[in-house]
This record gives sequence, structure tokens and C-alpha cells, in this order.
Amino acid sequence: MGWTQGTVVERKAWTERHISLRIDASFGNFQPGQFVRLGLEVDGEIVGRPYSLVNAPADPLLEIYFDVVPTGPLSPRLAALAPGDRVLVGTAAYGFLVLSEMPAGSELWLIASGTGIGPFVSIVGDGTLWRHYDHLRLVHGVRHAAELAYAERLQAVTAPAGKGCRYLPLLSRESRAGTLSGRIPAAIADSRLQRAAGLSFDPARSRVMLCGNPAMVEDTMAALAAYGLGRHRRRSPGQILIEEYWSRPA
Ligand SMILES: Cc1cc2nc3c(=O)[nH]c(=O)nc-3n(C[C@H](O)[C@H](O)[C@H](O)COP(=O)(O)OP(=O)(O)OC[C@H]3O[C@@H](n4cnc5c(N)ncnc54)[C@H](O)[C@@H]3O)c2cc1C
Ligand SMILES: NC(=O)c1ccc[n+]([C@@H]2O[C@H](COP(=O)([O-])OP(=O)(O)OC[C@H]3O[C@@H](n4cnc5c(N)ncnc54)[C@H](OP(=O)(O)O)[C@@H]3O)[C@@H](O)[C@H]2O)c1
Repeated sequence: MGWTQGTVVERKAWTERHISLRIDASFGNFQPGQFVRLGLEVDGEIVGRPYSLVNAPADPLLEIYFDVVPTGPLSPRLAALAPGDRVLVGTAAYGFLVLSEMPAGSELWLIASGTGIGPFVSIVGDGTLWRHYDHLRLVHGVRHAAELAYAERLQAVTAPAGKGCRYLPLLSRESRAGTLSGRIPAAIADSRLQRAAGLSFDPARSRVMLCGNPAMVEDTMAALAAYGLGRHRRRSPGQILIEEYWSRPA
């Protein structure tokens, strides 16, 4: 895999450790939901890591959203970049968290924890989802309200006439009006999420994308299994596509 030079154009800090970067790089096409590798030279070697693209394909600037893992080799260095700084960008995008991988359905649930919201911002920013789905539910679970990155943009998503969209934020470590409390799997198990969504889960209609913390992905899949929903793979069709941002502990 090759690298191309990118230049940071904009940096936004949602909190001290939750950062978005917009990057100018000559880059080919990608499908909303895919990721690219970003890299920096550290002690003479390139350290590269995958990051989901937040921008829609039509946006000329690439955008990523990440949190700082203080002990990690790359994320603290990415967080220290400022407009004008250079960053290496992989020359291609990868990943199967894309609408074209999903079998046909009518209700799309995009469910994220933490920085896992990034690829869903790209998917809803593209707009082609409305060709395939009548209902969209955007679920974002974070610890504190300050980590509800892109909330204004997601709240402002409007469905075409006759279709429906709701943005459903959850806070696990504080309470705020207009948000659900606790973790996503618990809110599914006691149906608070479905009540707030005005929809239930049904294998015939529901299609779900899960992205972020691997423990959230695992526990949410277990909660959805109670409704008959299972992981989709090309060789064994189901209703759920997943992207995990790090490995589950062995
Ligand atoms: C397909 C894919 C897409 C990804 N997209 C994103 C993205 O859009 N935004 C993003 O923030 N991260 C994303 N990641 C994680 C990202 O690639 C890095 O692992 C992360 O930024 C930390 O990099 P690092 O080099 O500092 O530490 P690493 O050496 O990569 O990680 C050190 C340890 O930190 C833990 N860790 C990794 N990522 C996180 C995290 N986000 N939160 C908490 N703990 C973590 C893991 O246990 C890991 O072993 C993605 C990962 C994958 C596999
Ligand atoms: N965000 C911060 O302010 C903060 C501060 C210091 C350190 N950190 C570290 O930074 C890393 C990332 O933190 P983050 O808050 O961005 O992401 P995160 O730990 O993945 O948390 C995001 C959301 O996912 C929830 N979650 C965690 N495990 C889950 C599970 N099994 N099922 C369902 N939901 C689950 C969390 O709930 P819970 O709150 O119940 O866990 C939280 O609401 C972590 O390693 C963390 O220790 C974060």
C-alpha cells in the first residue's frame, strides 16, 4: 500500500481528547463508511493506523474523528497536528461497513459508541441511503454530552417526504434532557431505545451497522440476537454489519 502527502487544513477539538482533522490530499473515490490509513514518521519509521472517513465522497477534503489513546504511538501525535502540518494518507480506502454490503431492508439503524460515529456521519452525509431505506435511526452512545461530536449535523438530517429519521444520543455518565441514560445494549434489552426510536427490531425490516468499542459491538449483537438479528457475512446472510476499532481482550 502506498502513501500520499496530505496537509492538515482544519483542526477541531470537541474535548481535550476528541479531535477532528480535515486534510487536503489527492485521493480517489471511496464508499461512505470506509476507512483510510494515516501515518506519521516516528524515529525514522512510518507509524500508520486506520481511521474511518467522516466526510462524504463529494467533499474535497478528507475528515477523520478520533480520540487520543495517551499511550499509543500515533493518536497523540495526530492530535498535536495543526493547520499546515503534513500527514501521510494511504492511497486507497477499505472496509465493508458500507450500504452496498447490506442485504435489502427498509429500516436502517446506525449504532455507534464514542468515535465510532465517524463513518455514520459520512453515510448520512452522502444521502444515497434514502434510495434504499424508509427509516433511519442514528444512535450514539458516549460518556458525557461533550463527546456527542457532530450532534448538530446529525440532528439536522432530514428525511425525504414520507420517510423518517431520528437521532438518539445516550449518555452513560451524566443525565441530560433529550438523551437516554446508560449503555446501548441495556437500552435495547429494556426497550427504552425502541420506544424513543418509535420502531422495534425485526429481521425482515431492520438493518443495523455497529461501530466503535468492541465490547459495545459484542454486547449490542447479543441484545439484538434476542430479536432474531445476527451478523451479516457474504457467505451467511444476516442483518448486522460491524466495525471494531480495536481488538477485544483475549
Ligand atoms: C478499521 C478501523 C477503523 C478505525 N477508525 C478509527 C476512527 O475513525 N477513530 C478512532 O478514534 N479510532 C479509529 N480506529 C483506531 C485507530 O486505528 C487507532 O488504533 C487509535 O487511534 C489509537 O492509535 P495509537 O497508535 O495511538 O494506539 P494503538 O497502538 O493503535 O492502540 C493502543 C491500544 O489502545 C486501544 N485503542 C485503540 N483505539 C482506541 C480508541 N479509539 N479508544 C480507546 N482505546 C483504543 C487498543 O486497546 C490498543 O491496543 C480504527 C481502527 C480500525 C481497525
Ligand atoms: N471519554 C473520556 O472522558 C475518557 C476519559 C479518560 C479516559 N478515557 C479512555 O479513552 C478510551 C475511549 O473512551 P471513550 O469514552 O471515547 O470510549 P468508550 O470507552 O468506548 O465509551 C463510549 C461509550 O461506550 C460505552 N460502552 C463501553 N463499553 C460498553 C459495552 N460493553 N456495551 C455498551 N456500551 C459500552 C461507554 O459506557 P460506560 O461509560 O458505561 O463505560 C460509553 O458510553 C477508553 O479507553 C477510556 O478508558 C476516556
